[in-house]
Amino acid sequence: MHQEKIEAIKSAISAAEAGNEDELEAYRMKFISKKSVVGELFAEMRNIPNEQKKEYGQLVNEVKQMADEKFQELIDQVNQAKKQTKSFDQDLTLPATNVAAGGIHPLTSTRQRIIEIFERIGFNLSEGPEIEDDWHNFTALNFPENHPAREMQDTFFLEKNPDVALRTHTSSVQVRVMENQKPPIRTLSPGRVYRNEAISARAHCIFHQVEGLYVDENVGFADLKNTLYHFAKEMFGRETKVRFRPSFFPFTEPSAEIDISCLICGGKGCNVCKGSGWVEIGGSGMVDPNVLENCGIDSKKYTGFAFGMGIERIAMLKFQIKDLRLFTENDVRFLRQFRPML
Ligand code: PHE
Repeated sequence: MHQEKIEAIKSAISAAEAGNEDELEAYRMKFISKKSVVGELFAEMRNIPNEQKKEYGQLVNEVKQMADEKFQELIDQVNQAKKQTKSFDQDLTLPATNVAAGGIHPLTSTRQRIIEIFERIGFNLSEGPEIEDDWHNFTALNFPENHPAREMQDTFFLEKNPDVALRTHTSSVQVRVMENQKPPIRTLSPGRVYRNEAISARAHCIFHQVEGLYVDENVGFADLKNTLYHFAKEMFGRETKVRFRPSFFPFTEPSAEIDISCLICGGKGCNVCKGSGWVEIGGSGMVDPNVLENCGIDSKKYTGFAFGMGIERIAMLKFQIKDLRLFTENDVRFLRQFRPML
């Protein structure tokens, strides 16, 4: 008789389910509380004949344990379900909270963009040391010994050893590349350069250049012009015009300064272009045969062009930045403007 009742309670316990707090409470009332069916089994104890008390007690305790374990299981289930519904409770249409993200420094993004443009037309990347010797910075580049041309670039020399200096331009890298590679050479060398100049809105003692070099058979001035036309249009937009102005560099002959039409006023004349409608972005020219020979390249067989541009200059034009010093001051009000929009 008891046996049957107990078995029925056991199967009721194992079949029990609870999907929410109310059902949990119903389970508790039914199987756990004093007045529950299990409680009643305990109350029944006093009506059991003494010799059966032990056996009966064991059975009832088993049921009690089973009921408790099941209760714990159901509590866990309900909690788990609550957690899951909670994440769906949220309003998915609310705008996301802002994640504080860093931005890319304008000099870095400008440098990246320049590299990208030239890589697509077959230029590879090369780099050289910032601490240079006289040969790579000057002599190999056809700067005559003690010639005033060296004064053109106010150099930081090492006091104890005037053969060592901070490079004044990235042209030193073209020498290193030509010494180590055979034509055809098509290389781009971005990097930091140093000049002993007073710091102002337009000049700094540390800045960045990017050098381009193309050496092969039959390279002509038209190649130089077309390459730079392509660059200017990619960098600044289709409407941009390029102008070459005759100039002088010891390492190129003929040489030309590269100007682009002023992006600010569209060529009409403003204070950025000082009313001329043009702004200078760098120098260029056909590599002087002496330089090719200095680097072990046969100047009868090969010709080349080179150009050098200021990365700060290009970034200033691109982002309309009026003061060069902003690039290195790390003022967050300036830098924040280059953070990605979130
Ligand atoms: N090295 C030159 C400068 O710093 C720029 C330049 C590079 C000119 C290559 C011609 C060819 O002013």
